[in-house]
Amino acid sequence: ARSRDFDGVRVVVSAGGTREPLDPVRFLGNRSSGRQGIALAEAARDRGADVTLVAANLDVQPPQGMRVVPASTASELREIMHAESRDAGVVIMAAAVADYRPDTVSEGKIKKEDRGDTLQLTLVRNPDILRGLVEARANNQIIVGFAAETERNPDAFLDLGRAKVRRKGSDLLVLNRVGWTEGFATSGNEVVVLDTRGDIVGEASGSKRDVADRILDAIIRRQR
Ligand code: PMT
Repeated sequence: ARSRDFDGVRVVVSAGGTREPLDPVRFLGNRSSGRQGIALAEAARDRGADVTLVAANLDVQPPQGMRVVPASTASELREIMHAESRDAGVVIMAAAVADYRPDTVSEGKIKKEDRGDTLQLTLVRNPDILRGLVEARANNQIIVGFAAETERNPDAFLDLGRAKVRRKGSDLLVLNRVGWTEGFATSGNEVVVLDTRGDIVGEASGSKRDVADRILDAIIRRQR
């Protein structure tokens, strides 16, 4: 029998990668498939939670048994996360969010005939959604962030996670390595879970579903 330790808990999970439009036909994006966020949403559903999946450009079909709300740009994702999180017990930001967006969106297609051999883009910073959710947090809400880092040195990798959780202020931070062949779009993952002080409170590797269940275990331990 499966444990129903999330019975009655409202869980909001973001998954996938944002797309920032350049013109009507092009965007700046990233390689997140949505698999890790979806695995979290499915694991929470199977453990009894009332799940909302905020879906940013998923490569795979969203699962059954949950509410799915689409979001494409970082700015849409931010608005939807704030609205959906208001009465949630657990909020998980697994989506890969663009740190920058083009400063202007061209109304027509950008034409090479008009631009010549090089094209300069100016990007502006997007607001940090996770930080904003932490600032707006309701009583007893648990907020979980992710950190996707390419650093290969294990100590430096952990230090980046510790610095990130202090900066963002989430209750938990799931640190995973990403690269050309790791993290994004793979079927497995390897993570370290940090608490808000940067202490290691969980570790997992295996399928994204197994990793998701271990992350939920860390959330439950945190709730007690
Ligand atoms: O989708 P998959 O193919 O399965 O891949 C999974 C994953 C590698 C994308 C996932 O496990 C993961 O690491 N997601 C977070 C990716 C990310 O944006 O990491 P980051 O280190 O750049 O951001 C740190 C945290 O801040 C994240 O929780 C992110 O959602 C959030 N953020 C980032 C920028 C921003 N402007 N607003 C944010 O809220």
